[in-house]
Amino acid sequence: MSDQTTPEATNTTISEEELRRIEGMAAQITCPLPISADEKSLLMNEISQLLEQQNAVLIAHYYVDADLQELALKTGGHVADSLEMARFGHEHPADTLIVAGVRFMGETAKILNTEKRVLMVEDEATCSLDLSCPIDRFSAFCDAHPDRKVVVYANTSAEIKARSDWVVTSGIALDIVRHLHDQGEKIIWAPDRHLGDYIQHQTGADMLLWGGVCVVHDEYRSKELMLMKEQMPDAMVLVHPESPRSIIQLADVVGSTTALINAVQQSDAKRFIVATDRGIFYKMRSIAGDKELIEAPTAGKGASCVSCGHCPWMAINTLHKLRDVLKSGGKTIEIERKIAEQALIPIQRMLDFAAQREVDMKIRGDA
Ligand code: 13P
Ligand code: SF4
Repeated sequence: MSDQTTPEATNTTISEEELRRIEGMAAQITCPLPISADEKSLLMNEISQLLEQQNAVLIAHYYVDADLQELALKTGGHVADSLEMARFGHEHPADTLIVAGVRFMGETAKILNTEKRVLMVEDEATCSLDLSCPIDRFSAFCDAHPDRKVVVYANTSAEIKARSDWVVTSGIALDIVRHLHDQGEKIIWAPDRHLGDYIQHQTGADMLLWGGVCVVHDEYRSKELMLMKEQMPDAMVLVHPESPRSIIQLADVVGSTTALINAVQQSDAKRFIVATDRGIFYKMRSIAGDKELIEAPTAGKGASCVSCGHCPWMAINTLHKLRDVLKSGGKTIEIERKIAEQALIPIQRMLDFAAQREVDMKIRGDA
């Protein structure tokens, strides 16, 4: 539970009890132990061959284990934020997409590539935001507010996407909501109440917020972060907007995983306090090895395991599981045709918006 409940999320649509239950599910996951260098090398070789034989490509999120990120890059795959993962899978010619991340990322890949085989490294990897937003209740909520555009975060099920007008990721949410607000639209936002609150403040849009939270980002603590800042006044504070408002207020940079990585690369600062999953340190170190990265403080000792600053569902993606999935065929992601067709519309809307944004940035000379 965060150290500050976002005030505007009063119309919460999921109870605190349900949020505690989801948090409990996350806390029960046992994170895998690291493997030896020899084992890693053997597994990497075996997997590289299997990927090639099956014309498969590995697409990994910045939060998964460093070994998987390394392997994705070595084998011609990709490591990215959720928006880029969707784009890469869509454009890549491989017959099979293997997603190292969480379920909504695999489902998005499938919706965009219905003709391709899409596998998850870990079929059980889900997300507390996805779990917090069941379709029946969400649909009823939308039906009760028919005058509002339904904007949902990518961290949702295919059914929720199919019920929406727009799908967004943290990399593009602000621009899309600003665009809708400029057109005079009122918005339903789901499921992350902290991200919704941040966007509402930035854009001034009229937004009704769903009450979900990310079990990882919700654990950052503002008092401890303030102390840390006092002890390291030269450090730049980087915050993912799934964090509570009290943390965002202490940030020098607020942004998606890609935006935070770019900040480390482009800033003159030598130290960074990072309020997002520590899996991202692998990428940050690979592009800026001379910079010091410090994990932002969480609820810490005595709190649940999700307070370690690492998503338990991302953590269960491993090289062993990937090898096994490639050998056994794993469970392919299947989505009912009608749902996939319906969900494609708001996803494609987001991708088209992103493509147009890039063109506009190039014209303005920002890219
Ligand atoms: P990005 O969209 O920034 O990759 O974040 C996805 C996510 O799950 C963050 O917790
Ligand atoms: Fe979901 Fe949070 Fe894990 Fe991202 S870090 S996948 S939002 S639980």
